[in-house]
Amino acid sequence: MSANETPVIAVEGLRQTYGSGETQVHAVDGVDLVVERGDYVAIMGASGSGKSTVMSILGCLDTPTAGRYLLDGTDVRTLSDREQARIRNRKIGFVFQHFNLIARTSALANVELPLAYAGVPRSERRRRAVDALTLVGLAGRLDHTPAQLSGGQQQRVSIARAIVGEPVLLLADEPTGALDSRSTDEVLDLFDGLSAEGRTLVVITHEDEVAEHAKRVLRMRDGRIEADLRRAPVDAAPPRWRPGAEAS
Ligand SMILES: Nc1ncnc2c1ncn2[C@@H]1O[C@H](COP(=O)(O)OP(=O)(O)OP(=O)(O)O)[C@@H](O)[C@H]1O
Ligand SMILES: [Mg+2]
Repeated sequence: MSANETPVIAVEGLRQTYGSGETQVHAVDGVDLVVERGDYVAIMGASGSGKSTVMSILGCLDTPTAGRYLLDGTDVRTLSDREQARIRNRKIGFVFQHFNLIARTSALANVELPLAYAGVPRSERRRRAVDALTLVGLAGRLDHTPAQLSGGQQQRVSIARAIVGEPVLLLADEPTGALDSRSTDEVLDLFDGLSAEGRTLVVITHEDEVAEHAKRVLRMRDGRIEADLRRAPVDAAPPRWRPGAEAS
C-alpha cells in the first residue's frame, strides 16, 4: 500500500448548510480531508459538531452544499442519484448504532442482501454470506433473526453485512453506542482485525476507548476539523486478531 495510491477519501472545501437567514446552520463549515487506503480513522467531537453530517456525505447518502468529494477517485458530484446508489452499494459498507437489520429475516438473508442488490448469483451470495458470518464468529447463528440475537451479535451481523461486498470503505456511526462493554470489545476486536487486513475504516464515536483503537483521530468542532492526530503510521497496527478465533 504505497502512499501514491488513489486515496479512498479526498474531500476539499466541504460545506453543508441547513435552513436560511436567522435559522441557518453551518453543520459542516469547510472540511478538507484525505484518507488513504488502509487507514483507520476515528471522528470525535461534541454533539452537534457535524460528525453525522460528514458521514452522510462520505457515505453518498447526502449531497453537500459545496465542496468536492472523490470517493476512490470518483467525483461523486458528477454522478446521477442512481449512479450514487450504485457506488454506495459497491464501495461502502455501513455500520450504524442501532444495527438497522431487517426484522424477522435470518442473519444469513440480512448479510446476503447487499450482494443481491449487486446482482451476485444466489449460490455465490450464500457462500460469501456464510464466510462473512463465520469471520464475525456467528457461524452457529445463520438462521437466527435479529430478535433471537443479542445486541452484540446483531452488531456483528451488521458488520458481516458491511464487509460481505468487499467495500473499499467501512463507515461506522457510533457502532458501540448501544452495546455493553463485552460486546463493545468484540466489535473493536473485529475492527482491529479488519484494519490489520488492510481495510479502510472511518468510525464516528463519543468513546475514548473506541478512538484508542484507531490509527488516526480527528476532532470536530462547529463543523470543522480542529485536530488531526496520527496515533501510528498506516500499516503499523500489529495483527492482534485472527479470523475464526471466537467460538460463540
Ligand atoms: N437535516 C437537518 N436540518 C437542519 N439542521 C440539521 C440537519 N441535520 C443536522 N443539522 C444540524 O447540524 C448540526 C450538526 O449535526 P450532526 O448530526 O452532524 O452532529 P453530530 O456531531 O453527529 O452530533 P451527535 O454527536 O449528537 O450525533 C447540528 O447543529 C444539527 O442540529
Ligand atoms: Mg451524530
